[in-house]
Amino acid sequence: MKIAPSVLASDLADIQSGLRLMEQTGCDMVHWDVMDGHFVPNLTFGPGTIRWGRNHCDLPFDVHLMVTDPMMYLPLLTDVGVEMVSFQIEVTNFAPRLISLMRELGFRPSVAINPQTSLVAVEEILDLVDNVLVMSVDPGFGGQEFMSSTFAKLEKLIEFRESQSLVFSIQVDGGVNLNNASELAATGVDSVVTGSSFFRADDHAAFVKRIRSL
Ligand code: DX5
Ligand code: ZN
Repeated sequence: MKIAPSVLASDLADIQSGLRLMEQTGCDMVHWDVMDGHFVPNLTFGPGTIRWGRNHCDLPFDVHLMVTDPMMYLPLLTDVGVEMVSFQIEVTNFAPRLISLMRELGFRPSVAINPQTSLVAVEEILDLVDNVLVMSVDPGFGGQEFMSSTFAKLEKLIEFRESQSLVFSIQVDGGVNLNNASELAATGVDSVVTGSSFFRADDHAAFVKRIRSL
């Protein structure tokens, strides 16, 4: 599986070192959790910080917008080397329009879905996205426990993808660690976000190598 550690779990007073660590240990992407204090009860960083981060890291950026107005943020993320952007399905009734704008601006569109949201909410747009980000914790904070109900959702999603001959990749975000990563890989997950487990690992490079070998 591919690995995208979340900046949120790094020392936020020294993001530069966190980015360097991701780069040095062979991570695939940098996951930026943008929270607006509205969609989720937490406030993190915005496009300005991400733009700054680009000066210190060559990895592709993966931006997870946990905001009520994703449309507003997209133009601010251009020319920063952002490869993929995830928006939360819960915030919009106009997902196709949002996805078109993402493509126009050069981002790979990804839809994120909360644990409480049924897959039915995304079924009609799965032919439009490159990736589905399945939240395995309630969004808003790092360091939460992985919800095991995620596995049933992943199986349904994979079944749906097969039945419709779709090609999106699947990313799992929240509470991922070495105890659940093998099962996620066996289920068919393409990439995982690992905040706390990456930054708390004794041997960061060995941790990355293990996840990438799954
Ligand atoms: C939660 C975020 C996740 C989270 C991952 O709202 O979307 O990216 O910070 O961190 P861990 O791996 O600590 O759950
Ligand atoms: Zn995230």
